Amino acid sequence: MDWEYLQPVTIRFGNGTIKDIRMTAEEYGYQNGLLVCDSFFLQNGLAETILSENEGILTGIYGDISPNPDVTEVDACADMIRKNKHGFLVALGGGSSMDCAKAAGSICLTNDSIRKYHGTGETMPMEHLPLIAVPTTAGTGSEVTCVSVLTDHENGKKSPIVSNGFYPSIAIIDPELTYSMPPKVTASTGIDVLCHALEGYWSVGHQPVCDALAFHACQLVFRYLKRAYLNGEDREAREKMAEASVIAGMAFTLPKTTASHACSFPLTNLYHIPHGEACGLTIDYFARINAEAENKRLEKMAVKLGFSDVEEMADAIHDLKEDLGLRNDLKDLNLAEEQVKELVQISRHPNLYNNPVDITDEMLYEMYESFL
Ligand SMILES: NC(=O)c1ccc[n+]([C@@H]2O[C@H](COP(=O)([O-])OP(=O)(O)OC[C@H]3O[C@@H](n4cnc5c(N)ncnc54)[C@H](O)[C@@H]3O)[C@@H](O)[C@H]2O)c1
Ligand SMILES: [Zn+2]
Repeated sequence: MDWEYLQPVTIRFGNGTIKDIRMTAEEYGYQNGLLVCDSFFLQNGLAETILSENEGILTGIYGDISPNPDVTEVDACADMIRKNKHGFLVALGGGSSMDCAKAAGSICLTNDSIRKYHGTGETMPMEHLPLIAVPTTAGTGSEVTCVSVLTDHENGKKSPIVSNGFYPSIAIIDPELTYSMPPKVTASTGIDVLCHALEGYWSVGHQPVCDALAFHACQLVFRYLKRAYLNGEDREAREKMAEASVIAGMAFTLPKTTASHACSFPLTNLYHIPHGEACGLTIDYFARINAEAENKRLEKMAVKLGFSDVEEMADAIHDLKEDLGLRNDLKDLNLAEEQVKELVQISRHPNLYNNPVDITDEMLYEMYESFL
């Protein structure tokens, strides 16, 4: 088996490391930075605090970012960067803020709209501003990935853009920043970590380094997610989930995600189910489907994780979602036949082809029917 592993992001991990922004920027010679942040941190005052603690280094804030960031937000952020000639970016927030910053940090060096590259197959230019990524959810792992997932609400399109230019320069991972996540966000983002690890592991693009990372991340999620959900100030659980998130990010960025992420896009776009919860809905279903693939390699993972087989692991995931208040069905949506067909059709996203078992429309239809 041939494989290649690459991880160009410097990772600084630890409680209180948010204070390292100044030192990091000075070390790398970054100047005139823009803080690109989740609106939650504008409201709770952290964005202003960071700006004043980094006076002379950070010179502005862009905070107009919604969950599942829109292409227009990326363009607006890029306009601000061009106008103020910012030299680097600090992204503070979950996947939405980091993904917006990644795309804006590239597109600002062109005269284009990000729409030119979103779901069009057009290759993103490699040039980009340096980015310090500071995650505040334990979820996407976007701080170490070369992916920016954007939504074009006007054209009903959610799709990842992949570019080596999207790797942040540095990830500063401060678990304390995740304490303010409400339980619902902890649950949804935490189950996303499990999806990244499992999908990275069973992807047709799997490879040994990412397999090892995926196993480590899965182990941590099974041990600590429920604790973090039940008590957001459980220091150990928050730290271990932050560790799981970044490690799962490294586990999936090269092998890529598969069927659960493919199905999540229409579930989020059409029915506003948060990203992690949407991925989590189908993860145990696809675990069962993928159990036999490639000489039962998922079975080996399940057994190493302490389960007797894939069925027992899938049951445990189902129960975990129940305990976290995450959905295991779509009953409340009262979907009509036409809507199920639409879900099937839009789930046929490129990520579906990374799944180790070919997923037919009939299989997707049967799966969605089982959720009704
Ligand atoms: N780039 C990647 O590699 C990658 C991977 C997976 C998913 N994604 C994308 O990332 C996005 C989801 O990101 P996410 O799950 O991190 O959520 P998010 O960034 O959309 O944030 C979800 C909600 O939590 C709030 N929030 C975030 N951090 C908080 C904190 N510490 N305290 C209180 N509230 C907080 C936000 O305000 C928001 O309302 C989706 O668009 C998804 O498709 C990207
Ligand atoms: Zn995800």
